[in-house]
Amino acid sequence: MNREPPKAFNEPDSKATAMAETSYEASATGSPCIRARGVGKTYSSRSSEVEALTDVDLTVYDQEFFCLLGPSGCGKSTFLRILSGLVSEYSGEIEISSARADGGSVTNMVFQEYGIFPWKTVLNNVAFGLKMDGVRKQRRHERARSYLEKVGLAEFADAYPHQLSGGMKQRVAIARAFTNDPEVLLMDEPFGVLDAQTKRNLQTELLSLWSETKKTVVYVTHDIEEAITLGDRLAVMTARPGGVKEVLDVDLPRPRTRGSIPTDEFTTLRERVWELLSDEVQQSVTR
Ligand SMILES: Nc1ncnc2c1ncn2[C@@H]1O[C@H](COP(=O)(O)OP(=O)(O)OP(=O)(O)O)[C@@H](O)[C@H]1O
Ligand SMILES: [Mg+2]
Repeated sequence: MNREPPKAFNEPDSKATAMAETSYEASATGSPCIRARGVGKTYSSRSSEVEALTDVDLTVYDQEFFCLLGPSGCGKSTFLRILSGLVSEYSGEIEISSARADGGSVTNMVFQEYGIFPWKTVLNNVAFGLKMDGVRKQRRHERARSYLEKVGLAEFADAYPHQLSGGMKQRVAIARAFTNDPEVLLMDEPFGVLDAQTKRNLQTELLSLWSETKKTVVYVTHDIEEAITLGDRLAVMTARPGGVKEVLDVDLPRPRTRGSIPTDEFTTLRERVWELLSDEVQQSVTR
């Protein structure tokens, strides 16, 4: 089925509000930002069909940090790509709330592989989205520099990506995403390839940017501890075709760092998530 990119909505309608009241969503607050109902996706080619997602029901609330966990190949990236509009053929309904009238982007993706242009300087990479939106040079550079400063790359504004480490490239990608000022940040294993120390530092920086800007974030990860450190809630997905198996609250105080989370609560939640996930991982390897 050919579709428009996910619809933006401004006012919650009664049908969608009723749909949001499933039991696992009861503890979340705020108004819905993303509503997915019965979302499915099958990739078809001449020789094969792969059902990646089936019947995904999910509500993500305004300013929420929402994490998605699931076995490899269960459709996490596919779901984010649908939310971003990169995948336009799917079944079911997706609505993304938008209060903005300035024509700016509603969603912005941050990928594991950075997605930065090797021939552009760090500053021009970070300012690129604003350039595409027609923002004047002085304004876009000011904004880009302020986010480069927040991620500790002010001195590297004129460097080229090949002069940066992996962690620094991912900082560029994050600075660019925040500079673009979308309402929703879609992050697909952004720190997946980084070493543990760099990953921790970037998690802390990301949480600090998120609490400053209060963006809605949908964050895909394979790392249970990362999901618990970052998320307000997390969803565990089933093996392919992926659906939502369970949504859990991460009811831990903020501001959070790995070290500040009470060990008992952390361990209990980690065990619970692993219990949910391990069955699905097993199914995905035997399939
Ligand atoms: N463009 C495509 N064409 C055909 N099949 C695809 C395409 N993209 C993904 N798939 C298939 O859809 C399924 C879900 O893929 P997807 O990349 O969404 O999974 P994932 O959960 O992000 O996996 P991982 O954790 O390994 O990143 C897989 O079986 C994959 O082979
Ligand atoms: Mg993926």
